[in-house]
Amino acid sequence: MEFDLAKLNNKDRYKLLTSTIIPRPIALISTVDEDGVLNAAPYSFFNAFSEDPPVCVIGIQRRPDLRPKDTARLIRDGGEFVVNMVDMSIAEGMNITAIDFDPEIDEFDLAGFTPVASTKIKPPRIGEAPVAFECRRTVTLQLSAERDLVVAEMLHMHVRDGLIDPETLYLDREKYDVVGRLYADLYAPLRDVFSLQRWEPDAWLAAHRKDQDDR
Ligand SMILES: Cc1cc2nc3c(=O)[nH]c(=O)nc-3n(C[C@H](O)[C@H](O)[C@H](O)COP(=O)(O)O)c2cc1C
Repeated sequence: MEFDLAKLNNKDRYKLLTSTIIPRPIALISTVDEDGVLNAAPYSFFNAFSEDPPVCVIGIQRRPDLRPKDTARLIRDGGEFVVNMVDMSIAEGMNITAIDFDPEIDEFDLAGFTPVASTKIKPPRIGEAPVAFECRRTVTLQLSAERDLVVAEMLHMHVRDGLIDPETLYLDREKYDVVGRLYADLYAPLRDVFSLQRWEPDAWLAAHRKDQDDR
C-alpha cells in the first residue's frame, strides 16, 4: 500500500503521519500575555534539532477560522516560552491545558500547576514538570495559511532534583517517567527499553567478517 501525500486531504494526512511517527515527545508550552495571564498548552509536533546552538522546533496549527492559537500569538508577541516536559504526574493536567479556553483564563490555575519564575525569560515554568527549557524564538516559518513552525533557541534548563547526576550528567531513567504521545487520545510511558551498540566502521566490519568466517 502507498499514499501520495499531496493528494490526501489534511485530515487523512494528519491521521497517517501522527499514527505512524510515534511516540512523539510533548512540549507543554507555557507563555504569558502582557497583563500577566498565564497560558499553557501541549504540542507534540515538537523535538530538539540541534545542541549547538540548542534549538527546538514546534509545529503550531491555526484554528479552523485561521486565527492563531494562543500559544502562537503569545510567542509572536513576546518571543519567549517555556517547554515543560510531561511525565505521568502532570499528564492529566496537560490534558486540561489542551482544552480551548478563552485567552483570559489562567490555564495554570485550572490544571493545578504552580508557576515558578524563569531565570532568563518572562513566562514562568511549570513547577511540577520534571524538566523545563526556557526558550526564545529565533524565527517563525509560516509554511501555509494553517501551519507555523516556531524555531527557538533553548536558553536555560531546569531539572527536578535527583533526575540527573550532577557529576556525570547521566539521567536516572527509572525516575524520569516521561510520556510520549501516540495518536488520538493515546499516550505511552517509556518502558521496555533495549540497547543497540553503536559501532565504529572497522569494528563492525571485523565482527561481521568473523561471523561469515565462522559459518
Ligand atoms: C498531546 C497533545 C499534543 C498536541 N499537539 C499539537 C501540535 O503539535 N500542534 C497544534 O497545533 N496543536 C496541538 N495540540 C492541540 C493544542 O494543544 C490545543 O489546540 C490547545 O487548545 C491550544 O491551546 P492554546 O490556544 O492555549 O495554544 C495538541 C493537543 C494534545 C492533547
